[in-house]
Amino acid sequence: MTPSKTLTVALNDRSYPIHIGPGLVEQAGALLLPVIQKPRVFIITDENVAQHYLAPLQSSLEASGIKCGHLILPAGESTKSFANLQLVVEAMLAAKIERSTTAIALGGGVIGDLTGFAASIALRGIDFVQIPTTLLAQVDSSVGGKTGINTAQGKNLAGSFYQPKAVLVDIDTLNTLPDRERLAGYAEVCKYGLLGDANFWDWLEQNGAQVLSGDSDATTEAIEVSCEAKARVVAEDERENGVRALLNLGHTFAHAFEAELSYSGALLHGEAVAFGTVLAFDLSVRLGLCPEKDADRVRAHFNSVGLMTKPPGQAQRIATDVLLGHMMQDKKVTDGTITFVLVRGIGQAFLTQDVTHSDVTATLEAALTV
Ligand code: NAD
Ligand code: GLY
Repeated sequence: MTPSKTLTVALNDRSYPIHIGPGLVEQAGALLLPVIQKPRVFIITDENVAQHYLAPLQSSLEASGIKCGHLILPAGESTKSFANLQLVVEAMLAAKIERSTTAIALGGGVIGDLTGFAASIALRGIDFVQIPTTLLAQVDSSVGGKTGINTAQGKNLAGSFYQPKAVLVDIDTLNTLPDRERLAGYAEVCKYGLLGDANFWDWLEQNGAQVLSGDSDATTEAIEVSCEAKARVVAEDERENGVRALLNLGHTFAHAFEAELSYSGALLHGEAVAFGTVLAFDLSVRLGLCPEKDADRVRAHFNSVGLMTKPPGQAQRIATDVLLGHMMQDKKVTDGTITFVLVRGIGQAFLTQDVTHSDVTATLEAALTV
């Protein structure tokens, strides 16, 4: 069996393939042999993913003559910490990795972001490969080389741009993914339609329910279109000096709530992105930039599939100035001004710094009091 589709992230001598299809964990040895320097890897995963996929991955790699070490971490957002960065780097060093050893991230965005960051600093940089096992990681975090951890000040505030050597998207791994996680990942799929591809959004309105129910054709289509969009954007603007910032649609709002709520697991990243996207549409409507009917369409689709369209109950106690304070620590703040991703309509995102704090506060207050 070969991957159903192979895309390329075109970055000259750092270009890499994204293989998409069923059964790729079982084919990992054959698929990775051409991209690794020496037949030696170190797998980082979490306890949930390990119980399903660590042994099949090791068998496949060993069948291709690749020696494997591994580390299993606790699952969840709080794993993306300085303490675990140290743990991963020191576990690899204790296993006597060499510069030619490849780290493998087997898991969701948490494991991918942490492993990529660790790989970028261990021995001043070793190769790494992404094997994403959540919908979110398959359509977004495994592609593009943003790695990192959370700090006390907020999400993803320490990290590096460090591209993987390959991405293996095995859609079969989604069969064991909890429904809540699949739905959260779907918010990042929707993002690609909402920011720049109105036809894909139309398709999602028709087919989103099938993607969420696990229909493999619909899921593969959604992943392929998302990865094509991500690969295109990363090739054009790897370091987020321009168009890549559009991928943060909804994220400025989302990160502020996550900093307050989510490291506990009360709020998943994709859940925050869902209502953060609705807030970005609401702010755009408030500023007279976007027709209200487009914001209504987003709300209607999210409601129909069960995605959050407003912050959860626990968020009611968070003061808007606290949320604004988190937004001011966003990586997109320049000279004290937040850069927002706003929309002129579905599929028409753009960047602007022309937003007053009072408009943001009013948008937050409306969402927190409904
Ligand atoms: P996650 O990595 O925490 O995974 C979600 C949960 O699903 C975990 O409990 C995990 O153990 C479990 N799981 C994973 N795969 C499974 C499977 N196949 N079967 C059963 N259980 C499985 O969360 P996530 O949503 O994948 O990633 C969120 C993180 O990604 C956030 O930290 C976010 O900041 C980051 N992110 C990064 C980028 C980027 O460009 N680097 C982009 C988007 C999001
Ligand atoms: N997830 C946003 C980015 O990769 O730029």
